[in-house]
Amino acid sequence: MATVLETGLLRNQEDGREYPFEIAELTPDNLDAVWGVQEVVVDTLEDPALYYPDPKELLLQCLGNRGVTIGTFVGQKLVGFRSIFFPGDRSDNLGLDLGMTDPELLHRVAHLERAAVIPAYRGNRLQIRMTSHAIRRASASGRWRYLFSTVAPGNFASMKDKFAVGMVIVKLLLKYADYWRYVFYQDIKAPITVDEATKTCSGSREIAKQREILGRIGLVGYAQEREGESVVVCYAHPSRPTCMVLSD
Ligand SMILES: CC(C)(COP(=O)(O)OP(=O)(O)OC[C@H]1O[C@@H](n2cnc3c(N)ncnc32)[C@H](O)[C@@H]1OP(=O)(O)O)[C@@H](O)C(=O)NCCC(=O)NCCS
Repeated sequence: MATVLETGLLRNQEDGREYPFEIAELTPDNLDAVWGVQEVVVDTLEDPALYYPDPKELLLQCLGNRGVTIGTFVGQKLVGFRSIFFPGDRSDNLGLDLGMTDPELLHRVAHLERAAVIPAYRGNRLQIRMTSHAIRRASASGRWRYLFSTVAPGNFASMKDKFAVGMVIVKLLLKYADYWRYVFYQDIKAPITVDEATKTCSGSREIAKQREILGRIGLVGYAQEREGESVVVCYAHPSRPTCMVLSD
């Protein structure tokens, strides 16, 4: 197996016991295991709008030289993965959604692609742990600067994952066969920070209101907070002008 990046104990939600785990960078040899995790996760999704599965070919590219994939093993069994993808000149490069047109910039874009953890091992913050390792490994190549990701409103664990690594919401768009998706973004060299004095909140399912906040008003989303049973997203003005086209 590849270099182990982290070890520890994970609680299994089904039997309540703790099991040793290893987090490691995966290789193309792990394709079937990654595919297997994705199949389990898709079969057990409560809401199919939350996760749009990646085709095998894209998972393979993320395991090869167009990306980085981090996995978590319990014994020999892969229980979760997180991938990063370098989209280059593909038409689904998320830089295009922010008005990036310069091919040089587009080649410095990285997507936080798919993350999945099988139900028995959820609740251990595995996605957040694997994302941190994936960003560190991808950074080692020095080849990307602009980090993007899409997340479904209501996928609170995934939103938390992006906020945890300092990403901000810059758009709310219809993507992937007409599902609403937040576009998360960060410029690793010149990170967007916010002026919290301008904070305003919105329920994450209030699509029109959030599009107004992001588009016309020009705020970015930087955190989520629980309010009773629901979750609200916090928006604020960037502390300084950004070089990106953030409005619709
Ligand atoms: C998304 C996914 C990978 C996260 O798994 P995980 O790492 O085990 O996530 P956890 O259950 O540990 O939750 C992580 C954080 O999100 C929070 N969270 C989870 N569900 C939440 C909810 N409904 N409301 C608010 N916060 C929530 C947790 O409280 C935790 O934060 P905390 O540690 O500060 O309390 C997993 O749920 C999954 O595979 N889902 C299906 C596939 C998917 O949606 N992938 C992401 C899109 S590509």
